[in-house]
Amino acid sequence: MKQNYNLYTTSDQEVWRRLFERQMQKLPFIASEVYLEGIEKAGFVANHIPDFDNETNPRLQTLTGWSVVAADGLVPIKEFFELLADKKFPASTWLRKIDQLDYLEEPDMFHDTFGHIPLLTNQDFCNFLAEFSKISLKYINHEVAVKFLQKLYWFTVEFGLIKEKQLTKIYGGGIISSSGESTYSLFSGVPTRVQYSIEEIFNTEVKIDAYQKKYFIIDSYDQLFQSLPKFEEILEQQLLVYQ
Ligand SMILES: [Fe+2]
Repeated sequence: MKQNYNLYTTSDQEVWRRLFERQMQKLPFIASEVYLEGIEKAGFVANHIPDFDNETNPRLQTLTGWSVVAADGLVPIKEFFELLADKKFPASTWLRKIDQLDYLEEPDMFHDTFGHIPLLTNQDFCNFLAEFSKISLKYINHEVAVKFLQKLYWFTVEFGLIKEKQLTKIYGGGIISSSGESTYSLFSGVPTRVQYSIEEIFNTEVKIDAYQKKYFIIDSYDQLFQSLPKFEEILEQQLLVYQ
């Protein structure tokens, strides 16, 4: 599938601009520095939707060898991890409408690109994502394993927090692209925020239709990569229990 850049309407461009500007009023104070640098490195700006082939991918290719590929809605999980293992990140191309700026039911291109692409300029994060995807493909036919794979992805790539210079910042794309959750995840007294722990992630419930009850804080993006052997070890143990 192609992005078909010319099909974006003036209204689509306006939706991008409004969402981009709304988030960028907050993110300089609360988002991971690596993410914020990634916005610049990826060439994302307010005044137009990123053109994957002509703008974003030449930059990503040079920096980390990754690229963003246009996807038609939600990608089936096996195909999703095959793409990631091949250093390709699938992104929707459709945008929410201007009267639904907080629309969240299904990831649109604002979530997929603004939320996820900037971290693909960071090699440590890319190493984690590619290796995690290779592990995921090994277990993709185990129903129980898939549940745990999704949990790790959820509490890191989508809803992860990171400690940078002794401050807790956001990096997960689900938080970064959400006006409400970007501040809720850091400042609300309702959820708990705990050190990144594979064991605890295995035991934590995913909230799909509400803000998370628990957020996991990493010390570095390399910590994610380094945790993968342990993740696989615990996954194997869980599979024995469930067999
Ligand atoms: Fe996402």
